[in-house]
Amino acid sequence: MTAPAPWALLAEVTHACPLHCPYCSNPLELVRRSAELTTAEWTHVLGEAADLGVVQAHVSGGEPLLRPDLAEIVAAAHSAGIYTQLVTSGVGLSAPRLDGLVDAGLNSVQLSLQDAGQEGSDLIAGYRSYAAKEQAAEVIRATGLPFGLNVVLHRHNLDHLPEIIDLGARWGADRVELANTQFYGWALRNRAALLPTREQLDRAKATVAARRGDGPELVWVMPDYYEGVPKPCMGGWGTRSITVGPDGTALPCPAAYAIPDLDHPNVRDRPLSWIWTESPAFNAYRGTGWMTGPCGGCPRREIDFGGCRCQAYALTGDAARTDPACALSPDHHLVRDPATAAARTAPSAETFVYRRQSRAVR
Ligand code: SF4
Ligand code: FES
Repeated sequence: MTAPAPWALLAEVTHACPLHCPYCSNPLELVRRSAELTTAEWTHVLGEAADLGVVQAHVSGGEPLLRPDLAEIVAAAHSAGIYTQLVTSGVGLSAPRLDGLVDAGLNSVQLSLQDAGQEGSDLIAGYRSYAAKEQAAEVIRATGLPFGLNVVLHRHNLDHLPEIIDLGARWGADRVELANTQFYGWALRNRAALLPTREQLDRAKATVAARRGDGPELVWVMPDYYEGVPKPCMGGWGTRSITVGPDGTALPCPAAYAIPDLDHPNVRDRPLSWIWTESPAFNAYRGTGWMTGPCGGCPRREIDFGGCRCQAYALTGDAARTDPACALSPDHHLVRDPATAAARTAPSAETFVYRRQSRAVR
């Protein structure tokens, strides 16, 4: 299949982070700092991305503020004509630091928040960061940049949704992204502690419906364990977006580190255009030709693209199987059984396995 032009780049400039969230989307095996791309390498990659058609870069991590050369990376994206969004925990986001990034061409900021109150937020982050986030929100608001608040939702904060939305309005966010936990990597490891009940999700959906149109824009990222239909993950494999990890590993999505037989290409070895159009990894699940099982003849195959390849791999060991989140999948019990178990248990946050940088082994 011919590759359409990508429009977004997720630039994971470092895996280092002061926070230890138990649902972190970084891989279990984190990239060590000494292996990170240099400023010149990021500048080159951003130029290649712009030539490919990328118009938007999410500069993320880990915590991107831990890169002393962040303003230079943002400036490189800006001079390549790419709209840049900083994705940050807020720890280390002082007014002078943000002013420097704005001068370099930064266009918007997404701030993460773990819960509506200090105690819950710090417990989930595994780090006292709520106060820093509150200050960061003030600093962001002062710049007038578009400001998004991102909250990963799970069993321990879903019932605080009204307070989370109130806090987003108080902090001056333009948009609150309510991202239900996606269970791969660290989140899969912590699934028993994080998986909500159906009742929690039903209440949360009703809250979102009632609060839409009043205050910040609310974005609801679908929880797929209870829906019976999978999410159209990444809008289809190799369709819209490229992730480049701290060491230059290029992936069709941030979680694809975990699929070992993909033969991950690296921007240090190959041009980004080859990676996007020709690499086996980006072509592995493009289109519908690879589909097996019920997806092959399913009328939804161009709608959800067979669901999430990373979830299929994480749960079945085969990335080409139908996403077990689909009720038609022969593996559907792999999401149904944990969801049923979630209704019977009330796990405490004390069972979290926090993400640790000491696992930096790549
Ligand atoms: Fe989607 Fe495949 Fe399920 Fe059909 S069978 S709904 S294409 S995941
Ligand atoms: Fe990788 Fe869904 S997260 S395809």
